[in-house]
Amino acid sequence: MSDKVILAYSGGLDTSVAIKWLKEKYDLEVVTLTVDIGNERDFSSIRSKALNVGASKAIIKDVRKIFVEKFAFPTLQANAVYEGQYPLATALSRPLIAQLLVELALEEGASTVAHGCTGKGNDQVRLEVGIASINPELKVIAPAREWAMTREETIEYAKRYNIPIPITTASPYSIDENLWGRSIECGVIEDPWLEPPNDAYSWTRSPANTPDEVAYIEIGFERGIPVSLNQHEMKSISLVQRLNEIAGSHGIGRIDLVENRLVGIKSRELYEAPAAVVLLEAHEALEALTLSKEQLRFKQKIALEYADLVYNGLWFSTHHQDLTAYVQSTQQFVHGVVRMKLFKGKCSVVGRTSPFSLYNRSLATYDKGDEFDQSAASGFIYIWGLPTKIQAQLQPPDDDKQK
Ligand code: ARG
Repeated sequence: MSDKVILAYSGGLDTSVAIKWLKEKYDLEVVTLTVDIGNERDFSSIRSKALNVGASKAIIKDVRKIFVEKFAFPTLQANAVYEGQYPLATALSRPLIAQLLVELALEEGASTVAHGCTGKGNDQVRLEVGIASINPELKVIAPAREWAMTREETIEYAKRYNIPIPITTASPYSIDENLWGRSIECGVIEDPWLEPPNDAYSWTRSPANTPDEVAYIEIGFERGIPVSLNQHEMKSISLVQRLNEIAGSHGIGRIDLVENRLVGIKSRELYEAPAAVVLLEAHEALEALTLSKEQLRFKQKIALEYADLVYNGLWFSTHHQDLTAYVQSTQQFVHGVVRMKLFKGKCSVVGRTSPFSLYNRSLATYDKGDEFDQSAASGFIYIWGLPTKIQAQLQPPDDDKQK
């Protein structure tokens, strides 16, 4: 009996060809794994396609809840955004897929797992480092990286073996999507000078075609996790879905980025992440109200570090565990509601409130009711400025010496 391989299967051309190729080249029995992370596919036809092309079993797993609650929301709590803009949707899905591949391999008694990534992207790194961190014994095959066929050759191969070629192959872009965002690459957008064509976007309206009325929304947080929308408590998945719709309809969440891939290539990528963009903005506003100056400053450094580790495929690292412990500790009092205005592609925070707010109006006010003891300011300034004053006296600047 031949050994088994678990193949991460999207239903697209490459992974369909991979089913056949793994059987031909390595004489392996192929079990496919397709995950539902909110990518809204027709999973039953993906399943039958896998079986038709030659998989012995085709498994579909709905992991939307785990994805949102264990991957996306902790990243939101960290305010992690790669290179200032990318909320990391694709990057966050890969460690989860890696984990599911490893689990299924154990269940099925397979010694090998496989994925459809090429050798030029970040996803191969995230999957393989993820797999190795959970089960270093598993073997990994990356068919598309090994066969090095061009697009045309892959289509030829598919025709030869009667593998259905999806209509979407005609799409000029390579798309990856989940609840946290949609990533768009390839085709004309590879020219960084070219304005993104409208057909690249599908979750967001062009700001020119959005409603002419301003929309207001209120997002409620507990411990830095969004729990309600417009005063209605909502479950994680529906909250993100709903926000994607609302913000997307106002043209919010389009991102156009030239980014630095882990494998050394600069690439121009487009993203749509309406919910993530709104939630990040709201979460930061609530933190501004509830965290101290030092926490906010240090947390910005952690956010950079956190984003890099997610982008670079180090989700299952001790470094991640350590940063998570810090981030979780900071979220203890991040409760409250943020009010936002959505209009023509832009979301702005217009109000925030929290039972743990550190904002004290009677200290801040210039009106009646001021409780700040202004007479204390002169003593404070005397001590605060003392070292600078002494240094200026004893070590006068060069210009003064020449006078
Ligand atoms: N550049 C992004 C990232 O590395 C998006 C990758 C999209 N992946 C894909 N297979 N189309 O996270």
